[in-house]
Amino acid sequence: MEDLRLDALPGVGPVTTKKLSDAGIHNIMDLIVRGPVELAEITGMDKDTAANIVEKARQALVEGGMISKDFVSATEVYKRRQEIGKITTGTECLDLLLDGGLETQGLTEVYGEFGSGKTQFCHTMCVTVQKPKEEGGLDGTVLYIDTENTFRPERIVSIAKAHGMDPEKALDRIMVARAYNSAHQTLILEEASHMIQENNIKLLVVDSAVGLFRAEYLGRGTLSVRQQRLNKFVHLLVRIAETYNCAALATNQVMASPDVFFGDPTRPIGGNVVAHTSTYRIYFKKSGKKRIARMVDSPHHPEQEVIFSLGDAGVIDPDSDTKKKSTKTAKSLKVESADPEINVESKSDSGVDADSKTEDIPEDSE
Ligand SMILES: Nc1ncnc2c1ncn2[C@@H]1O[C@H](COP(=O)(O)OP(=O)(O)O)[C@@H](O)[C@H]1O
Ligand SMILES: [Mg+2]
Repeated sequence: MEDLRLDALPGVGPVTTKKLSDAGIHNIMDLIVRGPVELAEITGMDKDTAANIVEKARQALVEGGMISKDFVSATEVYKRRQEIGKITTGTECLDLLLDGGLETQGLTEVYGEFGSGKTQFCHTMCVTVQKPKEEGGLDGTVLYIDTENTFRPERIVSIAKAHGMDPEKALDRIMVARAYNSAHQTLILEEASHMIQENNIKLLVVDSAVGLFRAEYLGRGTLSVRQQRLNKFVHLLVRIAETYNCAALATNQVMASPDVFFGDPTRPIGGNVVAHTSTYRIYFKKSGKKRIARMVDSPHHPEQEVIFSLGDAGVIDPDSDTKKKSTKTAKSLKVESADPEINVESKSDSGVDADSKTEDIPEDSE
């Protein structure tokens, strides 16, 4: 990381370096991740100076071959995309839904109501990302931002054991930060970016991404402020995932309120901000003891849903008699499912209608 030192930049001496590190910017990569506008904001530099420094940082990284220029050939884009890693979910059904697993260089948003398995999914991914590449992992470590105080090391132990892994090592490779308010949550992420490369972090979890913002910004008057702050947080998440080739996984709690007559009663709380920046969105839904996961709005996955379960191993494939159904698409699930419960759910639930794809109105906007 020698070459990423701030004082390697022309015109950046000890004074500026100190100013930057006081603001939480420790290397050249951090400058890129924050960008000029934010840099000016947090250091009090004037905008031109900030833009100038970020541009120098960009040039240094381009020259060092660490980031692509503004215009790149499709070959280079292709090459960069070839570097995308996939993390197995440890299940056939969810790997099928994700076309191999959770992708690096992107954000995956999992939304669903309370108890639908979002946190269990996060815990499972914390373990599977540590597996060697031959077994579908990325041999990586995890940064877990816990905003709801629902991270449970006991679950990691149990999931690791079920996957035949050493539970102590598994725990060692997960760093957990508890966020107490939305500003703290953003700060943790800003501070985290420089740890990512040093620690080979391949998975960044934020469970939940939206909850604190929602709790703090109640009412319509503050909606735009909330969206703005949330926007900043989510974009930072995406930029970090892209810059460091790691997977970002964010959860979003939704309500299933029976008194909503128009639109999707379980649309994501973050509204369009999260929807438009997420690379992938997956909807989790309870169906008796089972769970349904649906891929919503993906640029290159087919719209389909699969059935999974929860168990000691975290997210698991459903038991063998329903296993076959898990590989069906949503359409064939409706037609062919022998399970009446699932048929009813699929037909009647507007939450998983094709229409919900276009839904992007924030929950409390009118
Ligand atoms: N060891 C386990 N075996 C089976 N189910 C479990 C286990 N641990 C938790 N669960 C189930 O996980 C569900 C909660 O999922 P969770 O991921 O916390 O939901 P969410 O984060 O979406 O609110 C509960 O239904 C609970 O019974
Ligand atoms: Mg949860």
